This record gives sequence, structure tokens and C-alpha cells, in this order.
Amino acid sequence: MFEFLPPRARLRGSPHPGEENARKIANDFERFRDALPRSLEDYVLSTYEFNLASRYGGLPVKNPFGKASGQLSVAHHQIEKDAEAGLGFAILKTLIAQDRAGRQSMHEWAIPETHMAVERICGRSGVEGWTVTWKGRGWYDTFEAYCDFFDRSLAAAQQAGMLVVPSVKYHLPTPEENSWKKEEYEFTTAALLDRWRRHCAATPMPLEKDFSPTLAGSSRASAKATVLEWLATVPGLIHGAAAGRVSLGLKIFNALFEDDFQLEMLRAVTACAAEERAGFLVYANRLFDPARVYEGHQGVAYGGPDLSDRNLAVLERWLDSRTVSPLPFSATGDISSGRLAAEYLLRGASSFQMHTLFQLPDGEYAMRAGAKTAKALHLLLFHPQEGFIAWALDLGRRFGWKPGINVEEMASWCRGNWKTIREALDIRA
Ligand SMILES: Cc1cc2nc3c(=O)[nH]c(=O)nc-3n(C[C@H](O)[C@H](O)[C@H](O)COP(=O)(O)O)c2cc1C
Repeated sequence: MFEFLPPRARLRGSPHPGEENARKIANDFERFRDALPRSLEDYVLSTYEFNLASRYGGLPVKNPFGKASGQLSVAHHQIEKDAEAGLGFAILKTLIAQDRAGRQSMHEWAIPETHMAVERICGRSGVEGWTVTWKGRGWYDTFEAYCDFFDRSLAAAQQAGMLVVPSVKYHLPTPEENSWKKEEYEFTTAALLDRWRRHCAATPMPLEKDFSPTLAGSSRASAKATVLEWLATVPGLIHGAAAGRVSLGLKIFNALFEDDFQLEMLRAVTACAAEERAGFLVYANRLFDPARVYEGHQGVAYGGPDLSDRNLAVLERWLDSRTVSPLPFSATGDISSGRLAAEYLLRGASSFQMHTLFQLPDGEYAMRAGAKTAKALHLLLFHPQEGFIAWALDLGRRFGWKPGINVEEMASWCRGNWKTIREALDIRA
């Protein structure tokens, strides 16, 4: 197994949002145990002068919290509930691309499996968290069913102002292959665009290209040069299939190689010519343990504290070494609290997408009623010690952010001021 270093800078102790704000947050945490305020964003803005608005993939989102692609975004009723609960955006389960004749080169990722185990996991640092284990991979219903699901999800989310985003796994050549199945890119992208334009004709369609953790254990990803070629080539193929009509995000995976290779992947993505480049990144999908066996299946993806430790450390090194402003990105990986969202924000993330947090046992949430999505939002935002409002206000005081600043502005300030941030955190550590 690869080794990785923990992040050097961390938000420690309790947040200091100011005495009055701390009192209000503590009251709100209790007050909203039965239901969140109807207009969450208006409430937070008028109470705390803190604007939750942000951007995902270049498009506005009302708040920065979203559902990451996976088993919790495979059915219409799940998306309806997320919209109702107040999520800012939801990424649908990953579709396995196909060509016009229905051929899927990545068909081994389209396998049916729904059973998941939500388990405690202890990170290498000794910190405890949660992980979800299962054997499945991508969307396993038909291509048409996915297109309908996307269509209906867009309709259901529109009124609530929740952004809905498709995720796709397209053909990736093995080290032995030397050609790309462009038809999969063209056919799949066009079909999704057709559905998107029925609802949002004026804006480009955000799309996540999933480089999943299970790729890490596959022979396809056994050669570094092959992976770097994927990252350099995929954006051009998707742009070629939908010139100017897709806002493309690459969801980067944690490879089985050492941390230096994660940085090489990030550099490969940013080094492309502007017209061939992704618009944003999603950093970074789960770790992969090739030795671990789950229900007779060897090799599983996992998350928890090791995932956030590794992601935050790599992002730090990326920021340390960069010469140009990094691409905007959406964070994923063990965002189990507002404090962890703030850690990713400090490294430049303008949105936060979760999977595991929406699956915890009921006793882990503080809200007494409502769907798990609402319960997770309650914890993420209003927890007095671990919540995002407390930490964002703390950071605003430390870095002199103006009242009313929104999350996108915070993230872009952070991307440009990493040195200041690091010094401030190191001093506190
Ligand atoms: C059961 C399960 C299924 C997942 N399926 C997908 C998927 O189809 N596509 C994808 O891009 N990520 C998938 N993921 C990864 C999540 O989207 C997310 O990036 C990852 O779990 C890290 O977030 P978390 O720590 O909040 O769970 C899946 C994760 C889990 C636990």
C-alpha cells in the first residue's frame, strides 16, 4: 500500500465566530432540531451576514452543500427529497457511456449491487470516522432509464433551485490499447445534453467525468503514463462532442501510487491547452485497498479520516507548488462536518459534496425529525463546535473578510492567499 503524509495545517480547537454569533449558533442548533428554516440561505444571511451562495462548475448554487454521485442518487424519490431538504446540488449516479449501438467498453463497471455496509473506521492518525463498503460500481439500468431519470430529476429540482448534474464513465484505453472510442463520448454526451436543454437551454450542462477509485485497482490504471494520458485527452473528447455546451469537471481518483503522482495528475489537468482543459475538478474520490476482502470480493474502496487527510495534504502541496491559480474545484472525501468543509474551503474548494454523511445511523444526527439530508445539513451548518457557519465566521474574523461575503468569494480568496492561510494555521497549531 502507498504511504501518505498527513496535512500540516489544521483547524484546531473551537471556532471563534464572536460571542454574539456563538450564542446565536448554539440557540439555532437547538431551535432547528425539528425542522430547518424554510429559506435556509435567507435566514443565514440575515442572522449572520454570511452568504451561503456559491458556484459549482461555473454555475450558481444557492448553498455549497451537495450530494456526491452514488447509491443515494439512483432514484427519483431521492432527488425529490434532497431538493425538499434544501441541498444546493446533487450529482446523479455514474452512467457507463455507450455508443449508438449500445456498446459499452467499460461494461464491467455496470454491475448490479445495492447492499452497502456503513461501518466505523479508524484512520492512521487514530481519528475515528465512517466508511461505506459495497461491491457495486456504476449505473446498471438501461441508458434510456438514466436519461429519463436525469430529465425527471431536473424537473423536480428546478423549483427548489437545486442543481442536478450527470456523472459519466466513458471509455478509457488500457495500456495495451492505442485508440479512443470517440463514439461513446459523442453519443452519450449528446443524449444527456438533449435532456439538459429541455430545462436549461441557456446554460452549459455541468458534467462530472468519473475516474473512480475502482479504476485504481484495475489493470487499466496500472501504468502512470496511461493515467496521465487519460487526464490530458478526455476533456478534448468531451468538448469535441459538445463544443461550448458542457462545463466539464474531472473527478480525480486516489491512485495506488504515492502522493507525488496525485500532484502529477493535478498538473496534467491544468497543463492542457485552454480549449482542451476541464472547467473544474472534483477532488478526490475514495482510497482503494486492493487487499481488503468484502463479501468474497477482493479489493474495495474506502473513506473516512485517511481520505480527508490524504486529500488535504495533497491539496496543500499543490497550492505550495503552483505557479498559476489552480482550477476551481468541488471537494469530496470525508466531509463529515462543517469543520472539514472549512478545511477544504481553505484549500480553495467552493462546494462540498458528500455521500457517507447522508448514510449514518440515526443516532449520529442531532435533528429529531426529517430526512437524513436535512439532518446532515443541520449538523454541517449549525453545530456550535463543528459547524460551517461557526468556522466560516471564525475565518472571516481572522482574514478580514467583509460581512455578506459569499462562499465562492471566500474560496477564490483562499486560492489566491494560500501562503497567508498556511502561516495563520501554523501559528495556531
Ligand atoms: C456506495 C458508494 C457508491 C459510489 N458510487 C459512485 C459513483 O457511481 N460515481 C462516483 O463518481 N462516485 C461514487 N462514489 C464516491 C462518492 O461520490 C464520494 O466521492 C466518496 O464517497 C467520498 O465522499 P464521502 O467520504 O462523503 O463518502 C460512491 C461512494 C459510495 C460510498
